[in-house]
Amino acid sequence: MRAVVTPEAGAAPEVREVPEPQAAPGRALVRLLAAALNPVDLAIGAGRFYMPVPEAPRVAGVEAVGEVVASAVHAPGTRVWSLEATGRFAEVFSAADDALVPVPDGLDAAMAAAIGVAGLAGWMPVRDRGALVPGETVAVLGAGGIVGQVAIQAALLGGAGRVVALARSDEGLARARVLGAHAVVPLGATDPGAALRAAAPDGVDLIVDTLWGAPLAACLPALRHGGRVVQVGSAAGQSAELVAGPLRGGRIDIRGFSVFSEAHRDIAAAYAALAAAVAGGEVRMDVERVPLRDAPAAWARQASGTRGAKLVLVP
Ligand SMILES: NC(=O)c1ccc[n+]([C@@H]2O[C@H](COP(=O)([O-])OP(=O)(O)OC[C@H]3O[C@@H](n4cnc5c(N)ncnc54)[C@H](OP(=O)(O)O)[C@@H]3O)[C@@H](O)[C@H]2O)c1
Repeated sequence: MRAVVTPEAGAAPEVREVPEPQAAPGRALVRLLAAALNPVDLAIGAGRFYMPVPEAPRVAGVEAVGEVVASAVHAPGTRVWSLEATGRFAEVFSAADDALVPVPDGLDAAMAAAIGVAGLAGWMPVRDRGALVPGETVAVLGAGGIVGQVAIQAALLGGAGRVVALARSDEGLARARVLGAHAVVPLGATDPGAALRAAAPDGVDLIVDTLWGAPLAACLPALRHGGRVVQVGSAAGQSAELVAGPLRGGRIDIRGFSVFSEAHRDIAAAYAALAAAVAGGEVRMDVERVPLRDAPAAWARQASGTRGAKLVLVP
């Protein structure tokens, strides 16, 4: 079968013929229908992911949607979404039975893949980890990216009173406006923190942060007393210089979020809720299907930014 293999840390991925995985206790064999490509795949490939992963060479891919071929638990033909640290970018993959999430009937396979890691990382930090209360003001850092776009929509759907989108590019700001953000702030502004305070004069209750680094440091003073940050990604830097006093004085609450760290039942519930929102037309995601054989080119494109469309590999 064909699979996308990362031969060694930092090397470009290759599409290769590899043996099919063997049946194993507690694991299903799943035939690939669609697999979303994510920044985390590149981080794992480059050897800079924060959780342990198998040694290279390895089959890449943290998530995929497929059809069960063999399992002691799931009926053959059942469509499922799978999340594991590696191994999903293959025509057939092995997946833990108890980690599979059902894909609702009628949901297109590529969309079902797109709403996985990227969708959940936009949805759960607002609705679950961020515990949005209707009427609150939400700021989305990195609003032009896929995660940020879902976060804007999750906040609006959850009843946010005001959503401010912060993005680096004009295209990202334009996408945020189309999705319904009440105000947009360019991160290239001389002082994006001041611009955020002007856009949210009563203060921000919740920051959904896909950037970290300088943008988050600049935006923290815009939080209200008791405000929350959900830390989702670090596209702008692995470290941030945060001034200590205002964190204490403002009773600021910084919460980490990772799809790899959430309980399976919570992931499954959020996936079902997000799938329903997509089916109902309440959440939109642009999806671009790429043949599995073109994965190396898609990988290079993901490295330079998605331009707003989720790249999904299809066999
Ligand atoms: N915690 C989790 O479970 C989880 C899950 C999924 C993703 N993530 C993380 O979330 C982040 C976003 O993922 P994504 O799928 O949305 O990626 P994406 O679609 O590729 O978007 C990345 C966004 O980051 C922006 N960006 C990149 N470097 C920047 C910088 N130096 N300053 C400001 N903006 C910058 C880009 O802005 P432009 O549009 O202007 O280029 C783009 O909008 C990534 O760090 C990813 O690893 C975390």
